[in-house]
Amino acid sequence: MHIGVPRETAAGETRVAVTPETAKKLQAQGHTIRIESGAGVTASAPDAAYAAVGAEITDAAGAASCDLVLRVRAPSEAELTLMKPGSTVVGMLNPFDREGLERIAAAGLTGFALEAAPRTTRAQSMDVLSSQANIAGYKAIILAADRYQKFFPMLMTAAGTVKAARVVILGVGVAGLQAIATAKRLGAVIEASDVRPSVKEQVESLGAKFIDVPYETQEEKDAAVGVGGYARPMPPSWLARQKVEVAKRVAQADIVVSTALIPGRPAPTLVTAEMVASMKPGSVIIDLAAGRGPDMNGGMTGGNCPLTEAGATVVRHGVTIVGETNLPALVAADASALYARNVLDFLKLVLTKEGTLTVNMDDDIVAACLMTQGGTVKKAA
Ligand code: NAI
Repeated sequence: MHIGVPRETAAGETRVAVTPETAKKLQAQGHTIRIESGAGVTASAPDAAYAAVGAEITDAAGAASCDLVLRVRAPSEAELTLMKPGSTVVGMLNPFDREGLERIAAAGLTGFALEAAPRTTRAQSMDVLSSQANIAGYKAIILAADRYQKFFPMLMTAAGTVKAARVVILGVGVAGLQAIATAKRLGAVIEASDVRPSVKEQVESLGAKFIDVPYETQEEKDAAVGVGGYARPMPPSWLARQKVEVAKRVAQADIVVSTALIPGRPAPTLVTAEMVASMKPGSVIIDLAAGRGPDMNGGMTGGNCPLTEAGATVVRHGVTIVGETNLPALVAADASALYARNVLDFLKLVLTKEGTLTVNMDDDIVAACLMTQGGTVKKAA
């Protein structure tokens, strides 16, 4: 099978869906990789590295017109015109983007969105949300350390003692856990909050303190347990008590990393404008929900903090607020390496030994990821 790998064209996208490592494995399986010239450059993989494993270097049309196209992000309208009806595209197609999926369906493509894979043990090796959130959590702390004008660790020097940075992590999914682990390695003192009760033990095992907000009703408990491992919106009663506890910690924090998300819904506001005003000058907020939460103008360009501006770094009340919307793209080589392995593992479910494509709807992962087929949107989240 001819497998195309276009260069990503979304603004700020530096990742690539196939690395020389996975290209070599796919070639060894008898496939031909046709990669657009320059597709891997921003992820430290020049054309020569792909050519060295036998891949063909081609142009945008050559990569997009293959029977199977592997991408990081969904194809743009212009890219769709280069693709062949009846071909298959695998990537992070965004299951919540109904319009985007309709365009892919109208172009006659079979589309698999890897973000829709279930959070099960069997799907772990192809879980793109986890592989990329892990990187985002790491980079969030590295960015915070860079923007913060003080040390992270406690230091005792001849010139005096420096206090350890206080870090507050809001939302402890995959990104939050990695942020805790990374901040710990740098010597910070860390506290963390999440709605899900199972998180407490994980937070403590990484050496951080869990901000306990006990559940007072069955409704609160049920919402906290969520569905499929994901959080559901919490009742206002619990959110009000969480706000009080979080506000106390945020006022004392040097760094806040917020990662709280609810799939398919706006991100909850956890750091209000008043809380930002209560922070010390020079403090840093890294808002991983940037672009997915309410802002101050009734729009959705905020994050877990309404003062966040998606895609920008701003200073408000003396606090630096980083609204990067694609942190994994800032660690492009490793983000691509892990993403490309996720893709390779997913392909095992849809490529036969003979090298043809198959859509086995009895496979729960295939069924969950299939978004478009035969001109229609099969499923949108
Ligand atoms: P996510 O990116 O959807 O959300 C981040 C975190 O924000 C979650 O922990 C969520 O509970 C939290 N959150 C939402 N609203 C909040 C609020 N108001 N206050 C504080 N925190 C709030 O989460 P992610 O990283 O995608 O993880 C989702 C679930 O999937 C987790 O339970 C994780 O353990 C599970 N998982 C399971 C895997 C497997 O078994 N194969 C693999 C990876 C994750």
